[in-house]
Amino acid sequence: MARWVLQLVVLGAGILGGYSSAVAGDAEAGKSLYPVCTACHGPTGLGNQAMNAPKLAGQEPWYIVKQMQLFQNGARGTAPGDMHGMQMAMMSKGPQLAGEEALQNLAAYIGTFQDADVPETVSGDVAAGKTLYTTCAACHGPAGQGVEAMAGPKLAGQSDWYLVNQLNKFKQGQRGYHNMDHGGRQMRPMVATLVDDKAINDVVAYINALK
Ligand code: HEC
Ligand code: HEC
Repeated sequence: MARWVLQLVVLGAGILGGYSSAVAGDAEAGKSLYPVCTACHGPTGLGNQAMNAPKLAGQEPWYIVKQMQLFQNGARGTAPGDMHGMQMAMMSKGPQLAGEEALQNLAAYIGTFQDADVPETVSGDVAAGKTLYTTCAACHGPAGQGVEAMAGPKLAGQSDWYLVNQLNKFKQGQRGYHNMDHGGRQMRPMVATLVDDKAINDVVAYINALK
């Protein structure tokens, strides 16, 4: 395929994914916005299972910004029964976090954290998970590295218990339910291939192996 055709396809997918590119933030300016996050996500963003708070270190800044906006808009963390989402939604609404520039700065600061391995808590059949993951690769990348043009976040290296939680939320309609959540609405039907808890554990065990 000619290079420009490929670029058009990728551009088109980006528009369909509802994602628009933004300028990189100022990490120094974002530093003062992070202390309030440490109680749950840790001082260097490695997450805290006891607080149900995922790892942020290593995640792409565009995804951090987008999730903060979804929490702020009520497109995430407003579904009945989603206690953890509601906790996070509350934390997204500080006046100092209003506006895209503040979020870009905060995400740039989080981007300075050293990524590190977190303990594995999920076990499953990695070979079966590999087969299931074929469906996921188009949007999350063959190595789970994320595909910005498809709005698909990085999965490799994320806390495995969080991946399981989120897959269950998509299944139960606690994520990807809102009209403004274009990415989540694309993701939601994808969990149909994960028919039971075993399938969820298997695909997450495979994602663990991608690190
Ligand atoms: C009271 C604890 C708490 C605090 C404080 C908190 N969070 Fe969270 N955060 C959570 C929880 C719990 C989740 C998981 C929500 C879910 O299960 O859907 C979360 C999820 C997130 C996500 C989504 C990540 C993903 O991959 O889906 C981002 C981004 C995030 N938090 C950023 C922040 C930032 C930035 C701050 C500081 C401004 C912050 N959080 C403060 C508890 C907290
Ligand atoms: C059509 C594209 C597409 C496919 C295929 C897809 N996803 Fe996603 N996925 C997304 C998008 C977009 C998001 C981000 C949703 C948002 O912005 O809230 C996402 C989010 C997720 C999340 C939440 C991660 C986080 O940190 O918040 C998990 C876990 C996930 N996907 C796993 C999978 C798995 C496992 C498969 C294969 C069974 C899969 N996805 C297939 C597009 C896709």
